[in-house]
Amino acid sequence: MKREIFALSVLLMFTGLKAQEVTIPVSTDNSAILLQTDRENRLRTIYFGEPLDNNAEYALVSGGYQYYNSNAGIYNAAYTPAGTWNISEPAIQVVHGDGNSSLDLKYVSHKKDQLDDNTTLTSIVLEDDVYPFRVTLFYKSWKQENVIEQWAEIEHEEAAPVLLKKFASANLYFSQKEFYLTTFHNNWAKEMQPAETRLERGLRSVDSKLGTRAMLLQAPHFILSFGGPAAENQGSVILGQLAWSGNFKIDFEVDSYDNLRLIAGVNPYASEYLLQKNQSFKTPSLVYAISHQGMGEASRGLHAWARKYRVLDGEGQRLTLLNNWEATYFKFDEDKLTALFKDASELGVDLFLLDDGWFGNKYPRNSDRSGLGDWQENVKKLPQGIGYLVREAEKAGVKFGIWIEPEMVNPKSELYENHPDWVIRQPERPEKYFRNQLVLDLSNPEVQDFVFGVVDGLFTENPELAFIKWDCNAPIFNAYSEYLNRNDLPQSHLYIEYVRGLYSVLERVREKYPKVPMMLCSGGGGRGDYEILKYFTEFWLSDNTEPIERIFMQWDYSYFFPAIASDCHVTNWGDQPLKFRVDVASMGKLGFDIVASELSEDELVFCKQAVSSYHSFKDVVWHGDLYRLVNPHKNDLSSVMYVDADKSKAIIFNYLVNNRYMLTATEEPIKLDGLDPVKKYRIKELNLFPGTRSRIKAGKVYSGDFLMKVGINPAVSLRRTSVVLELTEVQ
Ligand code: GLA
Repeated sequence: MKREIFALSVLLMFTGLKAQEVTIPVSTDNSAILLQTDRENRLRTIYFGEPLDNNAEYALVSGGYQYYNSNAGIYNAAYTPAGTWNISEPAIQVVHGDGNSSLDLKYVSHKKDQLDDNTTLTSIVLEDDVYPFRVTLFYKSWKQENVIEQWAEIEHEEAAPVLLKKFASANLYFSQKEFYLTTFHNNWAKEMQPAETRLERGLRSVDSKLGTRAMLLQAPHFILSFGGPAAENQGSVILGQLAWSGNFKIDFEVDSYDNLRLIAGVNPYASEYLLQKNQSFKTPSLVYAISHQGMGEASRGLHAWARKYRVLDGEGQRLTLLNNWEATYFKFDEDKLTALFKDASELGVDLFLLDDGWFGNKYPRNSDRSGLGDWQENVKKLPQGIGYLVREAEKAGVKFGIWIEPEMVNPKSELYENHPDWVIRQPERPEKYFRNQLVLDLSNPEVQDFVFGVVDGLFTENPELAFIKWDCNAPIFNAYSEYLNRNDLPQSHLYIEYVRGLYSVLERVREKYPKVPMMLCSGGGGRGDYEILKYFTEFWLSDNTEPIERIFMQWDYSYFFPAIASDCHVTNWGDQPLKFRVDVASMGKLGFDIVASELSEDELVFCKQAVSSYHSFKDVVWHGDLYRLVNPHKNDLSSVMYVDADKSKAIIFNYLVNNRYMLTATEEPIKLDGLDPVKKYRIKELNLFPGTRSRIKAGKVYSGDFLMKVGINPAVSLRRTSVVLELTEVQ
């Protein structure tokens, strides 16, 4: 036997058949993923951790690992195929045109493209030995922000189409031991409820099968912490997200070596995809930020990346606004709206946003039961049309924006009557509604044209229109497409083609209207990922604007999203005083949804001052670095701080989140972060309600060193439940 092995290896040496080991590091400033081929030329992940100083030493990493049992080499494939040697959760599973379901992927080649000083694209080609089937793995890495985006492209040259049963975006492998996973559970008005668990052996999945409004129940974002629960300022963590606005599935599998396999992608549920010869299937991306200093650094990296490279106009400006949804609901007319324009201008915001209820004639949109899909102004409510409103808003000194929900239809609408085949529904079964509506079939190019036309029509008729709120209130029930049926395409393409259709419409919108700000909304935060945010300037976190709830929700959203993209409005939800509500909304992109004329004199004075002070510090909130100082989940207090790029200005928001007797909120100073220790800062309290005095000595100067080591006490108490502090550098 020994002789045989020797003979084989001699043969391999002489025939040159023995694969040469290829080592491919994918690195950022603080991290490296190391991929390496094995003897059979299969690509493995052999390291995930801090980068090595000396590149040449990456080749030595694998020498330290000695997995000798029969599972060796199975778990850590860089893209695990199904049907051959692998018997764990696959990244890819296919059925070839001849019915055979085996796949093995071997390394063929790789290249690195330096896209700019900060960005590298590594692509690795893998191929099957038996079938002309290829997968290219892509790793786009941003050095400074420590963010990696991974996706795969799948192609083949087989005579008959290949059925893709599972087709992940990324397949990662971690050998750090002790993995803690935080996932975020949602529901309407209860978005971003975090739950952290230690991962035990076996498979844990987070997924969505909702089609549209995919995040309604579970979010595609997660925090993975190595060696202990995730902490703000220490420990290795990954903040990740499957950037896809449809069904997703993220598998976390702890294997028999107690290592973690992570496989993320489109949810294979009801989504087998028939891939034609020479057609390329591009998966969505897994995006993640890495830090070895905890979640704070990871989210600052992710925010900086999102602003610079992802969210539309992420480094630009935003419009503060007054929205009429909770002020009027569906009940309004021209007089009521023009009065609200004056409120907007009185408050000092930039824009008035007209919400739902402005359209539909045969079936007027006077409730959520009818009219959706009929995008013509309701002549009773708005006899002079949108154009008149745009002009009147302008006269009042504010811009004008409008709500649409163009992917959806009420059965009580002309659209439904005229185009029943445009609607996703099972023809032989009773319809099932969500908020009395159904979803249009965006896999159909005609429907895509219609949806594009809704936006294009509004802008063509009203070139001054300055903002769009794009809503999406229903998931997909009875998934069935008449279009796919007519064109002999598999129904299992619907979930994927829907999302592709949506992106293609948004692509067209952005080609023609590159910069108009658009807010993404989905009955609150049912949508919001880094693919769709390429087309939107911001998104609506939740319909729940009760400010205590918001402190928690905004805290948890802030792990993943920068404040500039997070819409936060002041409404009448809950019992907190107006000041509290305004301060909380000022931590994101500020808006109002109240009737300003119903405010008391003091409240109006306060709001006007608060809007004006928001305009003075919004650049710090929108473009600065975020430091989460005191966690509301663990304290009576919450404290969050934004610092500008040159560390000359900072805003600190502090809130009481508990009203029990014997609060600990006022007892100790809060240590600040992100300042320059050498600089001196003057402190001032902002947003004081008329008639109240600050407990903070105005104008007092402290060094950054003092503020970060000793801290400052914002004197939050049951009488001062919300305190906003401003630090300005003293030259
Ligand atoms: C959804 C949104 C709200 C509002 C209504 C209008 O619920 O989340 O903000 O726009 O639709 O119908």
